[in-house]
Parts: sequence; structure tokens; C-alpha cells
Amino acid sequence: MAVAARIQERADALRELLHHHDHQYYVLDAPEVPDAEYDKLLRELQELESQHPELATPDSPTRRVGGATLEGFAKVRHAVPMLSIRTETDIEPTGARNFDARVRRELGLKDDDPPVAYIAELKFDGLALNLRYEGGKLVQAATRGDGAVGEDVTQNIRTIGQIPLRLKGSGWPAVLEVRGEVFMSRADFERLNELQRAKIAQGAKNEKTFVNPRNAAAGAVRQLDPAIARQRPLSFFAYGWGEITAPEQGGPAFERHHEVLRAMKAWGLPVSDRITVAHGADDLIAYHQGVGRERDSLPFDIDGVVYKVDSLALQRKLGFVTREPRWAVAHKFPAQEQVTTVESIDIYVGRTGKLTPVARLAPVFVGGVTVTNATLHNEDEARRKDVRVGDSVIVRRAGDVIPEVVAVVPDRRLPGALQFTMPRSCPVCGSEALRGEGEADYRCTGGLFCGAQRKQAILHFAQRRAMDIEGLGEKLVDQMVEAGVIRTLPDLYKLGLGNLVDLERMGEKSAQNLLAGLEQSKTASLPRFLFGLGIRHVGESTARELARHFGKLDGIMEASVEQLLAVPDIGPIVAESVHAFFQQPHNREVIEQLRACGVHWPEGEPAVQTPKPLAGKTVVLTGTLTTLSRDEAKDMLEAAGAKVAGSVSKKTDYVVAGAEAGSKLDKALALGLTVLDEEGLRALLAPS
Ligand code: IVH
Repeated sequence: MAVAARIQERADALRELLHHHDHQYYVLDAPEVPDAEYDKLLRELQELESQHPELATPDSPTRRVGGATLEGFAKVRHAVPMLSIRTETDIEPTGARNFDARVRRELGLKDDDPPVAYIAELKFDGLALNLRYEGGKLVQAATRGDGAVGEDVTQNIRTIGQIPLRLKGSGWPAVLEVRGEVFMSRADFERLNELQRAKIAQGAKNEKTFVNPRNAAAGAVRQLDPAIARQRPLSFFAYGWGEITAPEQGGPAFERHHEVLRAMKAWGLPVSDRITVAHGADDLIAYHQGVGRERDSLPFDIDGVVYKVDSLALQRKLGFVTREPRWAVAHKFPAQEQVTTVESIDIYVGRTGKLTPVARLAPVFVGGVTVTNATLHNEDEARRKDVRVGDSVIVRRAGDVIPEVVAVVPDRRLPGALQFTMPRSCPVCGSEALRGEGEADYRCTGGLFCGAQRKQAILHFAQRRAMDIEGLGEKLVDQMVEAGVIRTLPDLYKLGLGNLVDLERMGEKSAQNLLAGLEQSKTASLPRFLFGLGIRHVGESTARELARHFGKLDGIMEASVEQLLAVPDIGPIVAESVHAFFQQPHNREVIEQLRACGVHWPEGEPAVQTPKPLAGKTVVLTGTLTTLSRDEAKDMLEAAGAKVAGSVSKKTDYVVAGAEAGSKLDKALALGLTVLDEEGLRALLAPS
């Protein structure tokens, strides 16, 4: 065989194989080969096609990737107009009854005639798309547009793996226009938005998050850069057709709507498996109710169901009114998005002291529930969405997800509406609220004193690894806090039989056991006591290190951040947290009271200070070092108390430059910073 023919044969074989794997992977969800194997085949075909461009075909699997940026979309006149359907919005069963009654009337059926056969489908919440196949090959994909003229989005649609570039099997008509919905699954939408948020956080200018999967899908379909479109994962379901070669011209003969969909499925097109044949209104109602119950757990948004007369002959008989078929209707579900107004933005303080801004909303019925508030998550999120008191906002509740403010309606903002700012003090206890470096949340620093954190603080203090108070569990803490018997930790040690026996389900015996447990816990150790205070970032081992280093509680309470940084294994975040905790007068007061109640522990002497020659210094590493890896150098620097930063600034104390140091070194020199080589670094770490 001639070389050219062999290459041609190989290219054909590769295309065949890749089409098969595409179908297995995207449509059936049952891949037969690992991704790497698929990639190898794809690369081989890409290679062949680039060496022999004459071999490339429009339906080649390689066409799913790449392509030049579009200038705009060409207009496409639809061979058969893309119509819309009448909507029954009421959520009651009457929607289905009205439709059935209308169909029976139009068809001249009598009451005792048998029920009409319908098909019932999901109403996907995406964009209508027309896929044109000629000779089994995808030649064009177009949006609905105004129904008569749409846009040519073939390039972008080719990147959707679920859409076959070539029909499978046999018996397909010479011309087949598949109509269906392109959409984004909820999971893909969440992932995409997460990615977008990360890009924005890194300073990307022209990026935004998407309000809902429908908008994200629309943006992807109409994206002019196919490379970007490819990164937006889209899905597709076929539900109808446009032009199709007639039986007289050799096309297949169909009698029923569901037969066409079944054939499309066999030709490799994605068809939802939730399509059902229904007889009469009762079946339609059952379908509507069944889907309604499952709506939240579907992997994608739907906004209702669609009923269609199954018989194509009856469809023809029923015909159209203006631009809507008489044989189909959409029966909607309650909307998953609504507009409402923000009445206030309150701050909720969680059990761990985290401050969360919450938008209080004028009550609105959305996604099947009445929503009166929605979390704004944190300061950055609230600022990003720029939600202000008085604003009209779009609230979305889809799936099981908690209701969310997705966007503000900018035109409806009242003049003078103030930008939201996080309070700098805890709204529950008034202690300072701090946002740690690199953290998203503000936290109340009044851990022991704050009403919101009371239960958590007491449980943490009482646990076995802390003060080990026998007999004090979660239920009892809940009960005592709610009854107002204890407010802060010292109240525990002021309890007497009198307050306890009044509590429900508390016998005298258990009350006495608890008092004995409390008495016993007064004899503590400094690490246990410290851990029990629940200082953020102070776990058992940090508590031990602090105790060993300072010996006495007072030493820790008075320590500066610098002094705390000198403790082995304590970095800036922990040091800040410990310092902030003991700076709060409320916390100090609680500690004093605990001591006054008899809580005690043996105190020791401060440990000999291990030298931390680089405490408070910032070092930047750049280039390749010869004898140390980047991580080793970082560990050594941090052990010596230095902070290792990723970028050079005026605040950098030292820049350690190895081989092939680039822009960071340039910047260091430009700023006149001290630049060290590897030897210099060693000298720095081990001062004589
Ligand atoms: S049938 C002539 N079936 O809902 C009938 N439409 O107005 C054409 N849609 O934007 C539509 N799921 O894209 C049909 N299973 C379904 C559908 C569906 C979603 C969309 C369609 C159009 C609107 C109907």
C-alpha cells in the first residue's frame, strides 16, 4: 500500500476510535480507557493532521480543541423556525389539567375517549441550540436568536464533548437538525465560579463570577475566544428537531415524538433518561409532582417540565397558534431566583467567634421556601458583591444549597446608600474583632467572655485534654448556659448543690459528682490550663511549648509578639493570636477570677532562651542554591526566627540569591537591599 494511503487509513482509524471513546466518556459516562491513553491517540491524530492538512476533516475529534478568536458571530437563518412554548405558571396540578383539556377539545375528543398519550420531559434551564448534521457530520451549531435568525456558534459547540461531531450507527437522515438545550451542571458552575474567584483574588481585571448556571452557559456559548469557551464545561440534552429529511426523500419514518428521541440517542446524542410517556392528565400531574420532589437533587437546574403530544400525526393536526405549538406546554416550578430588598446587614457571631455578615431580606418565596436572610460570608465577599442596606438584590436558592444573594440590581440603588464595612468590635461582647493576615474572617477576641462563644468555651475548657472536668458534657453545658446558671468559666467554680438540683433531669447524686469533678479540676497544669483557654491557634503542643518557655502564666500574659516569636515552633500568626487574646481586659479578668476560685498549677522557671538570631527579619529566597534545597533553606531560616517572604519589597531585610536568580535579584539591587549568597546565608544562620 502506498504511504499516503496508509497514513489516510491510520487517520481514519484514529478518528473512529476517538469518536467511540468520546461517546463512551461524555455521553455514556463509561470510559473504557484511561485519559492518558486517549490523549496519546488524540496527539497522534493531531500530528498526522498537521503534517498532512489535506487529511483533516471537519468532524475530526481534533477539531474540539483550538481555533482562532472570532470577530463576531455569523448570522444563521433557521431552516425551520425555532419556536417557543406556552407556559403554565401555576404550581398546582391545574397546569396539566388545562393543557389536557385544551388538547382534547381541539382534537374533538369526547369524555369517554381514551386518554391522550403525551411525553413528559424536564425543562432544562439553559439555551436552545440547533445542531445541523449533514451526511451524519456536524456542520453547524446555532443559537435560537429571534427564532428566525440565530448566531453561528459552531466553533464553541464543537468543544462540548457530549455533542457528537459525527453521528453513530446507521439510518440517520441525510439532513438532521437536532434541537436541544445547552446548559451548565451545578457542580461545573460552582467549580467555574471558584476558579473565577481565585483569578479575581489574584488581581485579574476582566474576570467576573457568574450569577447562575444559565448565565455561565450563555457566556460560554457566546464567548468569542474558543480557547476560553473550551474551559467552560457545558452539557447538552436533545429534546426536538428542526429540518429533517422526509421519508419520501429517503429519511426515516417516525410516528411518535419519543421514537425520534430514541433514535437520536442511538445516533450518539445525549437524551435525558427522565423522559416519560404519560397517558392523560393524571400521569402528567404525577410526573410534575415527582420531578418537583427531585428537583433539588438533580445535578442541573430545571425550571419546570414540558408536556408534548406524543403522536406526530396529532401534533400536525393540532398545529400552531401564532408562534407556539398547540401540542406542547411548559409547566413551571416556583422560580429559583427572585428580587427582594436588603433591610439590614447584621453580624452573626458563631460559636468559634467568627463574625459573619448576614443580609436581612424582605421575605421572599424562592426555590420553594420563604427566605428572610442570606449570608454574605465575609468582608471580601460582601464588598465584591457590594451589597448595601436598601439595595434590591437577586436571591437564588437552587438545589439543596442555602439561599444566596447573587447580585445587586444596580439601577435600583437608593441615593446615599453606604458601602458595607465590617465592625471592628464584636457585636455580642464588644471585644475587639481582628482579621488575621491572609485570613478571610474577622474573629472576636473575647473568647472567654463573649456570649456567642460561651458554650464552646466552656466545653473546650472542660474537656479531658484540658481541665478534665468529670461529669460536664455538652447537654449539661447547654442546659446550664440556657438556664443562665453559668455565663463565664469562673461561674463553674461558684456552682453549689442549690443551683444544680433545680436543673431538669439532674439528680442529687450527679450534682454531687459534678461538684467533685470541678473540685478535682482545680489542681491543673499550666499547659492544660493554657490549652483550655481556647486561644485560637493554640493547640496542646503549642500550649506545652509556651509553658516550657515562659514557665509562668504571667510571663506569657505580658509577652510581646517579639518575645512570643522566640518560642520554638511559634510563628507570627500564633504569636499575634496569643498576644491579642491576653490584651483583652475581659479575658484577663476571667483568668484572675479562675485563680481566685482556686484554680492553680505548679509554675516553673523560664527556659533558657534558644537564640533566634533572625527574629523579626524578612528574607526572600531566589534562584537555585547549591547545597541546600529551597525548602531546607526556608526551614532553617524560619527556625532562626525569620519570616520567609515570596516577593521583594522595601521591608525585606535580606535577599538570598542562588544561581539564575532573576527579577527578584534585580529588584533587590534596585532597592539597595542586602544580597547574600549561600555562604552568606550560612554565616547569617550561625553567627559566631
Ligand atoms: S420544546 C416547539 N422541550 O424552553 C417546542 N423546550 O420555550 C420547542 N426548553 O427556550 C421547545 N427544555 O430551549 C422543549 N424539554 C424541552 C425543553 C425546552 C428546555 C426550553 C427551550 C426554549 C423554552 C421553550
